[in-house]
Amino acid sequence: MISSTDFIRAFKMNENWMHKISTPALIVDYKTLQRNITYMARFAKENKVKLRPHVKTHKCPLIAHMQLQAGAQGICVAKVSEAEIFAASGIKDILIANEVISPEKIDRLLNLNRYTTTMVAVDSRKNIEDLNHLARKRDQILKVLIDLNVGLNRTGVQPGEPALALAQLISQASHLELEGLQAYEGHLTYIKDFAQKKERTKACMEMAVSTKQLLEENGIECKTISAGGSGTFMITGKYPGITEIQPGTYVFNDYHINSVVPDLEIALTILTTINNKPAKGIFTLDMGSKSISNDMGDPRFKGYGKKIKVLALTEEHCQCTYPSKYDFNIGDKLEAIPAHVCPTVNLYDFLYVIQDDEIIGRWKIAARGMRE
Ligand SMILES: Cc1ncc(COP(=O)(O)O)c(C=O)c1O
Repeated sequence: MISSTDFIRAFKMNENWMHKISTPALIVDYKTLQRNITYMARFAKENKVKLRPHVKTHKCPLIAHMQLQAGAQGICVAKVSEAEIFAASGIKDILIANEVISPEKIDRLLNLNRYTTTMVAVDSRKNIEDLNHLARKRDQILKVLIDLNVGLNRTGVQPGEPALALAQLISQASHLELEGLQAYEGHLTYIKDFAQKKERTKACMEMAVSTKQLLEENGIECKTISAGGSGTFMITGKYPGITEIQPGTYVFNDYHINSVVPDLEIALTILTTINNKPAKGIFTLDMGSKSISNDMGDPRFKGYGKKIKVLALTEEHCQCTYPSKYDFNIGDKLEAIPAHVCPTVNLYDFLYVIQDDEIIGRWKIAARGMRE
């Protein structure tokens, strides 16, 4: 005879959360998310370094508030339009970790700076002059961090004398305040050999710390050095003189970051459905490039390691091969693990939050698509 617990279990199996969600959909495991958030907050606390998570990974104000509640002191964003979304959710301590160049964007930044502290990275004389000019017109003080190019060769000024020249300009600027330096070492994130990563990360941090010393020898105060991402925080966050880390990917992770920092668990997957079986050993998923980013490689599948192989990923389809021992049927659900989580999240309006096989939330990814 079927017991009532068996009946409830059978009922739950039929009502499995996977079958309540239209696919493709972003799925976040709540407990894993919380573990990742707690892990980084604890690391920061134990190493007496401030935590300023980069929210470009989740683009979701609710998750930013979870990070702040766990101990983060503020957030990093990539763009002014992202800053606007997070400020509107009540966050008051924001660093735009890129340069804001054109006057209309500087205006938007200063609008935010009226009711929050919104700091910005700088790396050129012209930009410093423009920021000061517009801040003076509005009678506002704007905090800036000098962005150092410590090897990523994407943004930033060279450490040492070139950075000192910018610091001197800032200290003469009536409406700018130098908060400190940013030294993001993103080019070292995926180095697999830890000893090599450690040596190269320390070399980057040394450039930042010695630049701070140079500024101070020249009478310029430098309160903050903000650096570090999810692949390097464990080195950067322990380096003497680094005051703040700014990891982003650690909340969700993807298989690349998980392969270099296994302590950070994969909290996000894409739920997808097998829609077709066009030939023996091939199935096609309803998850194409509109639903997952493959800028850093093809997706993998939860529970299958590399056994399912992607043949092609086009706009609406993902064709895969699979070994004959798996008896996949049309309608079956799979969870894909992205190679790169941040641009994947950017493709969705909502994420579904799962705890103990129940859907406990549908959270808005309010800052998706914020490209200005
Ligand atoms: C300036 C800056 N800081 C921090 C991060 C976070 O890095 P990660 O996502 O590897 O943690 C990024 C990511 O692109 C970044 O551009």
